[in-house]
Amino acid sequence: MYQYTDFDRQFVRQRAAQFRDQLQRYQAGTLGGDEFKPLRLQNGWYIQRHAPMLRVAVPYGELSSRQVRVLARIAREYDQPSHEIFQGAVAAQNKLGSIQLRDGQAIASRLPTGYAHFTTRQNVQYNWIPLTQAADVMDLLASVDMHGIQTSGNCIRNITTDALAGVAVDEVADPRPYAEILRQWSTLHPEFAFLPRKFKIAISGAREDRAATHWHDVGLHLVRNGAGELGFRVLAGGGMGRTPVIATTLREFLPWQQILNYLEAVVRVYNLWGRRDNIYKARIKILVKAEGQRYIDEVEAEYARILEQDGAPHTISEAELARVSAGFVPPALDASTTCSDEKIARILRAAAEDDVEFGRWIQQNVQAHQNPDLRAVTLSFKRLGQAPGDATADQLDAVAELADKYSAGELRVTHDQNLLLPWVRCDQLAELWREARRLGLAKPNIRLLTDMIACPGGDFCDLANARSLTVAEAITARYQDLDELHDLGEIDLHISGCINSCGHHHSGHIGILGVDKDGQEWYQVTLGGSDGSALSGAPGAGKVVGPSFAANEVTEAVEAVIDTYRQQRSQGETFIDTLKRVGHEPFKAAANAVRVATARPTETA
Ligand code: HEM
Ligand code: SF4
Repeated sequence: MYQYTDFDRQFVRQRAAQFRDQLQRYQAGTLGGDEFKPLRLQNGWYIQRHAPMLRVAVPYGELSSRQVRVLARIAREYDQPSHEIFQGAVAAQNKLGSIQLRDGQAIASRLPTGYAHFTTRQNVQYNWIPLTQAADVMDLLASVDMHGIQTSGNCIRNITTDALAGVAVDEVADPRPYAEILRQWSTLHPEFAFLPRKFKIAISGAREDRAATHWHDVGLHLVRNGAGELGFRVLAGGGMGRTPVIATTLREFLPWQQILNYLEAVVRVYNLWGRRDNIYKARIKILVKAEGQRYIDEVEAEYARILEQDGAPHTISEAELARVSAGFVPPALDASTTCSDEKIARILRAAAEDDVEFGRWIQQNVQAHQNPDLRAVTLSFKRLGQAPGDATADQLDAVAELADKYSAGELRVTHDQNLLLPWVRCDQLAELWREARRLGLAKPNIRLLTDMIACPGGDFCDLANARSLTVAEAITARYQDLDELHDLGEIDLHISGCINSCGHHHSGHIGILGVDKDGQEWYQVTLGGSDGSALSGAPGAGKVVGPSFAANEVTEAVEAVIDTYRQQRSQGETFIDTLKRVGHEPFKAAANAVRVATARPTETA
């Protein structure tokens, strides 16, 4: 995997030292709260509901086992609130009460400590680190080339890509070298440090879009033109929030050498014309939607000017691409046994027949690889008793061991909040499965209903209208039977605690959105959203089922929707295909029939 250069390394360490100085001055009272705020945000430190929240950047989701061990250490030693803060948090959450399931179970807030949380944008967050320890944490991160730079604020954020980048069988080209070039270009870009609003870029190098590119401020697809040349399809103006918008295609084909020159134009025109007067209208999606072709024309004019008048200063040379690509050479692995080896294939088949869970794991969690002798394996961080994407310090240490033993020391954070081992030998699959199962990380539920996306919601986030994690836990508790889960097949369930849409509820086949009324938690359910993946089809936002559900009704509403699928599906048909075929009406009717509460908020998404 890519290693930071000495320049990057030195810069990250200097930034950690600078932050220590800023923190000390703030603590000494020589730097006011208002002055310190932008400085901490520039390093990924937010102040949230109960405590500070730290967001750590993971460029395009790649992590080494060494980095994961440091993330584990931070979780273990620093993600620990003081007794006073924790008691305050427990009291606040207790007031919200618990979700009652039909079988009598009550699901309350759990407020776990000592965890790292993986996000949909392939980053890591911590929810409890005391600000007094923030500088020590930044030093620890810097010791493994990690930081929180540009994980907050109105700048270009972490560039994300497909977790299968460089190993996917449907790959046109590896997106990681381009993601790295874009990382270098966007880091501390002086012109783009104060954009009208945050700016998120995702790149897909494969035929299937596994990076939700249509939902990003800029989405890039590596494609080949008729002449076989490599370039980018460039999309802009996608986003969720209050106004879900699917990105517009600016260019069907742009030679890869020109991507930085073109993006300079895309971001510059947005920087000039984006709405700075209204935070709700400040994202690029609003500009692209309002101006349409006029925006595209201005980008093209600015691009032409950059090429002709400025002399195309950001053109990527073959030599530069080769230099960066050298950081992504696949690891040298012992290839003495291969997946095509009949003996290995027989052993795997026998193991799958012997143990149904192993067979299911192979089916759901193990994916084909560009190297026919290898597989990519997803470790599931979706299980009862743990929030989606949460990993304990011990789990992180164990995962680092697994990566060293089975995946050349490398891991990826997935958009769905799991971790992926990209370089696993077939003859080691059974052994890996046994170890992962012992650790509770081999749940064969990838892409199934319980492999849900959820934001931190009202358990941790100050902006939340309602809790996401308790709802995630309630639905997970209801769908524990693996036979049932596998029978239901692939379903995307996404939960956001408010309209900011961090949990991507708009793109869920089933989306759940927290809304509030008079301080009470309510939930809107949407159906038929798509992230643009092969399973989900053309990207689009789900449609609201009806008025909101009370917290105690929402699991039953989901259950009613799922039961309707069971009744309506034809042989082998997925949830999303059934919904498309029969339409929303029977699903809506079933969901709306579960209501028992009366007064409801009227708000719609
Ligand atoms: C608790 C800390 C968090 C806070 C305060 C926060 C805040 C926000 C806000 C205010 C927005 C909307 C910005 C806008 O539309 O202009 C946003 C968007 C977003 N957040 Fe978060 N967030 C948090 C955690 C997370 C987590 C844990 C994830 C991933 C699971 C996440 C993923 C996203 C994504 C993907 C968007 C973009 C949605 C879009 O396209 O509009 N955030 N966040
Ligand atoms: S969607 Fe809302 S509640 Fe959830 S993390 Fe984002 S801002 Fe917080």
